[in-house]
Amino acid sequence: KNCDVSRKEIGEPKKHLLKSTKELLQSCELVLLNSGVLQGYNTTGITGACKIAPVKMLRYELKENIIMKMISRRDFLKASAVVGATAAMTACGGSSSTSTAASSVAASSAAASSAAATNGSANIGVCIYQFADNFMTLYRSDLEEYLKDMGYAVTIVDGKNDQNTQTEQINTFLQQGVDVLVINPVQTTSAQTIVDTVKPSETPIVFINREPDKSVLDSYADKCCYVGADARQSGTYQGELILETETQGDINGDGKITYIMCKGDPENIDAQYRTEYSIKALTDAGKEVECLYEYLDNWDQTTAQQDVANALSQYGDKIEVVFCNNDAMALGALQSIQQANRTVGKDIYLVGVDALAEAVQDVLDGNMTGTVLNDDVGQATAAAEATKLYVEGSKVEQYYWVDYVKVTKDNASEYVK
Ligand code: BGC
Repeated sequence: KNCDVSRKEIGEPKKHLLKSTKELLQSCELVLLNSGVLQGYNTTGITGACKIAPVKMLRYELKENIIMKMISRRDFLKASAVVGATAAMTACGGSSSTSTAASSVAASSAAASSAAATNGSANIGVCIYQFADNFMTLYRSDLEEYLKDMGYAVTIVDGKNDQNTQTEQINTFLQQGVDVLVINPVQTTSAQTIVDTVKPSETPIVFINREPDKSVLDSYADKCCYVGADARQSGTYQGELILETETQGDINGDGKITYIMCKGDPENIDAQYRTEYSIKALTDAGKEVECLYEYLDNWDQTTAQQDVANALSQYGDKIEVVFCNNDAMALGALQSIQQANRTVGKDIYLVGVDALAEAVQDVLDGNMTGTVLNDDVGQATAAAEATKLYVEGSKVEQYYWVDYVKVTKDNASEYVK
């Protein structure tokens, strides 16, 4: 299309985004950002300088100078439509109903950030299923920061992995008259009860991280949405990480991939999909697989450490791959692997999900085969944006999805937090 395209490595988005964007805006007519990274920041001073079209694109894959190729035609047209719309409205206003979920959250950012000042503050109640969860700790601190940056009063409570505790907390928030609830349910099977409890007050709910059934969202239409990541993608990436190894997962060359699986909370769709799709990626590639055992480790490092220690002594060299539904469990598995004098990359493979700082370092050091970025920044950003849309009474989509990213030794340095 005869466009001059340049790319800019943003580095750590939280720190460098605004500066980098500003620099780009001085030389470009159009800046394409991945989904919504600008939200939650005070963009005054840069939004006026250029039409900003935050589009959903592959955030971390701007490796070569082929940005335009990586944005699908569909996304590009949508981006152009958003630019057109914002230009026409001069105030960078409306979200486009035809844009993807993520980009429509993103598209509303300019309007949202300017409106926060005029609308005044709002009270947001955030229920986290359990503070003692590594990934949710990152997520909640991002979320708190973004909501506060938007000018809201935020209260975050710890459900302590107990649905009764969380239900009481929700009732307290309702009594206090919060404007929006952000809920990371302890049990997704309780999501309908939560909605039924909240509904009479008409308080909007942003469900995060643990996906309720669609019927739950439908039962509170226009007042309830889900922000998350499609766990099938993370599972598939885990399988691909194994297929990309030198032996394609078959270390002993017997024609099949023999593995154990450390699973998260069985009720959680992330755990179910990661378990299923990591193996599906192998079988779809024509591989024969053998599962030695699936351990119920509830996302927990210590439990996984013990189970993997037992597995290693029971099955020994038979184990070629340890799949873990998250990094916390992978870190526990690694402790046992090292204690058993096994070496990742040589006589065993190990993969997790989340890209926790420690796990990314282990990938860099070769102690883990790979992990998958569970984008806490992207999800917290989208959750904060959806909250803002509710506060403003704007249209909110039913689902907001944030992409996972495969993390290997080659790109791990980009994810060191
Ligand atoms: C994360 C896990 C976390 C779980 C909590 C998952 O998406 O990968 O690390 O324990 O969410 O619900």
